[in-house]
This record gives sequence, structure tokens and C-alpha cells, in this order.
Amino acid sequence: MKKVLVLHGPNLNLLGAREPGMYGSLTLEEINQKLVNTGQELGLEVTCRQSNHEGELIDTLHKARDWAVGVVFNPGGYTHTSVALRDAVAAIGIPVVEVHLSNVYARESFRHVSLIAPACAGKIAGFGWQSYRLGLLAIRELTEA
Ligand code: DQA
Repeated sequence: MKKVLVLHGPNLNLLGAREPGMYGSLTLEEINQKLVNTGQELGLEVTCRQSNHEGELIDTLHKARDWAVGVVFNPGGYTHTSVALRDAVAAIGIPVVEVHLSNVYARESFRHVSLIAPACAGKIAGFGWQSYRLGLLAIRELTEA
């Protein structure tokens, strides 16, 4: 079975409690369980990781090169600021799909800019936890032999 990394960035550990009107009421653990189940339906083995630390996210992306066919990545607030994460995405040579729970284009203008997206295979935003599900589908399509 193809292995896929789902990587959550800063503050996403607080899902459920954090701005539920914006991000929904599911906890990160509940979303991760849904993604593992979705992966099974799609023939993907899904591993989920979260970090609030830029360097740890970079290390996790580097390591994914050795075991995953692709990454579904929600960089959280680092989306809009991190050259280092963008460079990591560009460096690893496996497809990365950027995802967001909220529709970042319907929010503050600083969220309209992603430094990460140009290095990604594509981007999905605005569908709550289903953005990740669509991201998994995209990785499956992109890695179809
Ligand atoms: C987010 C959108 C970002 O702008 C924000 O900083 C987040 C969550 C989302 O999933 O909608 O932390 O990535």
C-alpha cells in the first residue's frame, strides 16, 4: 500500500477548541482518524504528524522522502511566511498538496499569499476536514502508476 504523510502545522493541535466557527468542531485526533479511514478506502496508508515548530516540520518533510509517495500539508500560519518550508517542499522531490480547512481567499489579505503553493503540486482550501480528503485523492491520482 502506498504510504502518505499528512502533516499539520502550528496551532492545528488546538482544533475543536480553536475558532470552531472558522475551523469546525472536530479535534485533530478525530480528523486524523477520518483520514486514516479515508486512506484505507483509497488504498493509501496514512500517517499523521503535527508540529508547532518550523524546524521540526522541515525535518519531517525531509524524512518523508525516504518512506512516503506524497504529502498532504497544512502549513497553518507558516503558509504565509516561511521561505524555509517552501524550500523543503521543493527539495524533497515527492508531490506535496497544500491544504487548508478555511477558504483563505475569503479572509484577510495576508492569507491570500502562500509562499509554499508554488512549490506544491496544487492547493485545496475551504472544505473543512474534507480539504485533506481531497488532498489524499490528489496524491493518489498524482502517484498512479
Ligand atoms: C489554515 C489557514 C491559515 O491562514 C491559518 O494561519 C491556520 C489555518 C487553515 O487550515 O485554514 O492556522 O491553514
